[in-house]
Amino acid sequence: MPMRKFIIGNWKMHGAAAEAHTLVEAVAEAAAKAPQAEVIVCPPTTLLAQVTSWLVGSNVKTGGQDCHAEAEGAHTGSISAAMLEEAGAAYVIVGHSERRAAFGETNDEVKKKAQAAMGVGLIPIICVGETAAERDAGKAEEVVARQVSESLPKGHFLLAYEPVWAIGTGKTPTARDIESMHAHIIAVAARETGLARERIFVVYGGSVNAANARQILATKGVSGVLVGGASLKAEAFCNIINSSE
Ligand code: 13P
Repeated sequence: MPMRKFIIGNWKMHGAAAEAHTLVEAVAEAAAKAPQAEVIVCPPTTLLAQVTSWLVGSNVKTGGQDCHAEAEGAHTGSISAAMLEEAGAAYVIVGHSERRAAFGETNDEVKKKAQAAMGVGLIPIICVGETAAERDAGKAEEVVARQVSESLPKGHFLLAYEPVWAIGTGKTPTARDIESMHAHIIAVAARETGLARERIFVVYGGSVNAANARQILATKGVSGVLVGGASLKAEAFCNIINSSE
C-alpha cells in the first residue's frame, strides 16, 4: 500500500478559463496542506497548458482525458500523447467508459493508447468497469478481468475501477464490493505483468463525493479516487483531498 493516495479530478467536458482558475487555486491550497495526497486534475485539452501554468510551484499535477495511440498523422480532432506532455500533463486517462461506449474503444486500442502515453513519459490511468447488466448477470469479475488483461501495457501505470452504473448516478458499490473487486484487479494485473501486488495501484471512481470519500479511501486495496462531478466544485474536491489523511 503506498503512503500517498491519488486524488484525481476528471473534469470531462466542463470548465471555462475563469471558473477553472478559481477552482485550481483552491485545489492547490488544499493540496499544499495534504502531502499524503498526489493530486491530479484532468481539465479539457483546451485548458491543459493554462491550468498547468497556474499550478507551477504547487504540488498538483495535470493529466489529459484521452490520447491517440499514434504519435502523429491525419487524425482530425485527435490529440497525441506527446502533445499532452508538451502542454504540461504528467498523466492521461485512457479507456474511460464514456469513450469506450461513445467511440467504441476496444481493450486493444486502450492498450495502444497507454503504450503511447508511456512512450513519452506520461503515466496512463487505465479505466475498467462493468455495466449494470454485466453485474446483474454475475459477470462483473469476468468482464473486468478481461479489460485488465487486454488493456495493460508493460511499464508504469495506474488502474481505475469505475463501475459504469456508479458514474454520475449517486450509486456506489458497498465497501466490501469495492474491496473484493480491487483485490481481483490487483491479482489479475500482477499475473499479467509479473509485477508485485504492492506495485499495482487501483483507484476507485463513480459517484465519489465529500461525504463518502473518507470511507472509500480507507477501503483495503484502494489507492485513491477518480472524481467526476465533485471535482468541479472547489469545496467538495478540497474536502476529498482532506479525506486522504
Ligand atoms: P462521477 O464522479 O461524476 O460519478 O464520475 C466518475 C468518473 O467518471 C470519473 O472519471
